[in-house]
Amino acid sequence: MRCLITGGAGFIGSHTADALMAAGHEVRVLDALRPPVHMRPVRPPWLHDDAELIHGDVRDRAVLNRALEGVDAIFHLAAYQDYLPDFSTFFDVNASGTALLFELLVERRQELRRLVVASSQAVAGEGSYRDGDGQDFVPSSRSRDHLAEGRWEISDAMGRPATALPTPEIVSRPQNPYGLSKWTQERLVLDLAPRYGIPAVAMRYSIVQGPRQSFTNAYSGACRIFCLASHFDRPITIYEDGLQRRDFVDIEDVVQANLLVLEDERAIGGVFNVGGERAYTVLEFADLVQRAFDRQGTLEPSGRFRFGDTRHAVSDCTALHQLGWRPTRTPADSVAAYRDWLRSVDPSPAVLDDAAAEMERLGVVRGG
Ligand SMILES: NC(=O)c1ccc[n+]([C@@H]2O[C@H](COP(=O)([O-])OP(=O)(O)OC[C@H]3O[C@@H](n4cnc5c(N)ncnc54)[C@H](O)[C@@H]3O)[C@@H](O)[C@H]2O)c1
Repeated sequence: MRCLITGGAGFIGSHTADALMAAGHEVRVLDALRPPVHMRPVRPPWLHDDAELIHGDVRDRAVLNRALEGVDAIFHLAAYQDYLPDFSTFFDVNASGTALLFELLVERRQELRRLVVASSQAVAGEGSYRDGDGQDFVPSSRSRDHLAEGRWEISDAMGRPATALPTPEIVSRPQNPYGLSKWTQERLVLDLAPRYGIPAVAMRYSIVQGPRQSFTNAYSGACRIFCLASHFDRPITIYEDGLQRRDFVDIEDVVQANLLVLEDERAIGGVFNVGGERAYTVLEFADLVQRAFDRQGTLEPSGRFRFGDTRHAVSDCTALHQLGWRPTRTPADSVAAYRDWLRSVDPSPAVLDDAAAEMERLGVVRGG
C-alpha cells in the first residue's frame, strides 16, 4: 500500500514509517517540522531514507491535496501538543486540520483502504471511578484548592474515597484544550467517516515511550524527564505523592497496534485504547529509571503538582485485545531503549532546564 503519515517525522510517526516499510509498504510523510520537536525545519536523521518527505502543514489545503495524491492509507498523527495557553491552536491544528482532511477526502472521492487517526488518553480526562456505594461515575477535574492542600485522590459526592478503574473508550470527558481537540478528532471518525464511507479508526494512545521521543517537547512525559535527570545526574522531581498510576505503553507495541488496524476490517469505525499491560505508580516508574542508570538514593515526592494533570490514567484495552493485540514490552524495556538512544544523541543539559523553566513560567507547576 501507499501510506501517507502526517506528522511522520515525529516520534510515533517515524517508528510507524519504519515498520510500514519493513512490511513492504511505501511511505510518504507530510510534516511541518516545527518546534519544539524540530529545532530546525530539516529532515530529521531518524526518518527512514526511503520515506518521501513533504515539508508542509496539514492546515494547508494545497499541500494536503498534494500529499493525498495516490495514497491508499493514511495515518493522521500531526498534532499540536503543549502546555501553552494558546487554546485556539489546539483546535486549529488538531480539530480543523482533521476536518480539512475529511473535507478533501470527500471532495476527491478518494478510495481509501484505511484512515487511522491519533487520539489520546487525554480524551478520558480523570476516567472511570467507583463511589462508596459501588456506583461508577466519571469525576470532573480536581480543584486547585484540593491540590494546594495536597488532597490528591478523587472523592465521591459524599466525600468518601473513590476507586479508580481502568477506563474504557465509552468514557469521554476531556479537561483541557488538547483533550477536547482530540475528542473532536474521534467524533469525526465516529460520525463523519461512516456517512461518507471512509474506513476510519481512532487510536487512543496512553503515554507512549521509547527512542526518538523529543527532548525539547515539554509535553512528552515521565520517561524523557526522569531519564534526562538521571543522565545529567540531577534529582528526579516527582509531583504529588508519586502514587498516581499510569499505563505506559512502549512505542514498538503502539506501532504493532497501528499495523493491526491498518489491515483488520473489524477495526473500522472504532475507537481503541492503546495502553500498557499494567499500571505503574510514578514512584515505581522513577525507581526503574534510577536502576536503568545505575543510580542509588531515595526518591522523594516533591508535593508540587502540575495543575491539569489527571490523578490516575489507566485505559481498559479490552477492545484491542479482542482484535489480538497485546503489549509485549514493559516500561523497563522502554526506559532501556530510551537511555541508549539518549546516550547516542548526547543532548545538552539545557533541554532539561529550559522545559522546567517554561513550566514554572507558565504556572503549570505549583505548590510545594
Ligand atoms: N506520544 C504520546 O505519548 C502520545 C499519547 C497520546 C496521543 N498521541 C498522539 O499521537 C500523535 C503523534 O504523537 P508523537 O508523540 O509522535 O508527537 P511528535 O510531536 O513527536 O510528532 C508530531 C509531528 O507532527 C508534526 N506537526 C505538528 N504540527 C503539524 C502541522 N500543523 N502540520 C504538519 N505536521 C505537524 C511535528 O513537526 C512532529 O514531527 C499525535 O497526534 C499525538 O497527539 C501521542
